[in-house]
Amino acid sequence: MKALLIRGGRVVDPASGLDAKRDVLLREGKVAAVENPGQIRAADAEVCDAKGLVVAPGLVDIHVHLREPGQGYKETIATGTAAAAAGGFTSVCAMPNTVPVNDAPETTRWMQAFERKASAHVFPIAAATRGSMGEALTDYAALKEAGAVAVTDDGKPILDDAMMLEALRSAAVLDLPVIQHAEDTRLTGGCSMNAGALAFRLGLRGMSVEAESNLVERDLELLKQVKNGHLHVAHLSTRKALDAVRAARRAGLHVTCEVTPHHFALTEERVGLYDTNAKMNPPLRAESDRAAMVEGLLDGTVDAVATDHAPHAAHEKEQEFDRAPNGITGLETALGLAISILHIRHKVPLAGVLALLSSRPAQAMGLKRGTLAPGAAGDVVAFDPADKWVFRAAESRSKSKNTPFDGWELQGRVRLTVSEGRVVFRR
Ligand code: DOR
Ligand code: ZN
Repeated sequence: MKALLIRGGRVVDPASGLDAKRDVLLREGKVAAVENPGQIRAADAEVCDAKGLVVAPGLVDIHVHLREPGQGYKETIATGTAAAAAGGFTSVCAMPNTVPVNDAPETTRWMQAFERKASAHVFPIAAATRGSMGEALTDYAALKEAGAVAVTDDGKPILDDAMMLEALRSAAVLDLPVIQHAEDTRLTGGCSMNAGALAFRLGLRGMSVEAESNLVERDLELLKQVKNGHLHVAHLSTRKALDAVRAARRAGLHVTCEVTPHHFALTEERVGLYDTNAKMNPPLRAESDRAAMVEGLLDGTVDAVATDHAPHAAHEKEQEFDRAPNGITGLETALGLAISILHIRHKVPLAGVLALLSSRPAQAMGLKRGTLAPGAAGDVVAFDPADKWVFRAAESRSKSKNTPFDGWELQGRVRLTVSEGRVVFRR
């Protein structure tokens, strides 16, 4: 593999606090040097001019649905990671609600095989219980050995107290986080959007804020009983649940959480007249909840921006609102939304935004990624922070086009993505 010299950019590496003009040399898949402009001698390297660009660690998305094995008509590992690369992501954590469910080491290994043609590093997250049925734990040691970085029954929360406690205890011994999709599904049967006046007007059943916060509060109570336990709350969406996480963190519990771009960018109003591209789980919430997500991102309570990239085919989304599947794609819009909304509108410093998209999610999942320290994986994104562009779903690398952001003007556009020293995207 040819060495790559990325020259003349503004290097922002939140892990080390570096924000300055630097050249970056990648060699043999790793960061070989980060030096003052003009200092690196590498006659053999391909040179890439990054003048006017921000050069940062490749982004890390700890919550994506790549749909393989089993649902290649929605997405494949190849197409999903191509979308990741186009969005500046070099690491993605793949959720286990595949067909079959990723509850076995063979499946975990299959997802990471060279034959999948991934353009970003895939870190599988394994099912916490067999078939995600909530009845018997999977073999956490074998799954970790096969490459799983966490366990979850995403989409099918573990409701039973004893089962969740067992999951937290078994994972703690192996230093694995337990990720919970916080939804008390006993309260949300038949619901397809946020509870409130709008759901009432549309004639749809709504999910209450408490269906989320109750389960977060229950999980935090269980976490107190587990030595070295680590709970990670997936796609947190309500002020009430965020307040619970904030208080637990202050009390010394090891709890981390993520927020999606759509939960800081949109409210339930986006559902409009039954637009299924605004249907996801957890649902878009009220403005006060959206504002709370921004506060949590600003004050450090939230560890990560994660997309919950959830591709679905057009024929699945083109149904009555309450019958359509939950989820939207997100890999190609995340950076632009984070810069436009968090950085420009809400004044989160650029290094803070990039930390939420790289070093902090990596740390939450225990991945040795998200930094440009010499010796680290050669994962880099270079983007123009000033470029205003229009996102067109039809041009997406994802196999599915189910996004509420089609036609949005975003600021901040990816120019180059390098994964383990290899250029995987260039514009
Ligand atoms: O919106 C969602 N989509 N939420 C989930 O919990 C599952 C996901 C999917 O797999 O489509
Ligand atoms: Zn998900």
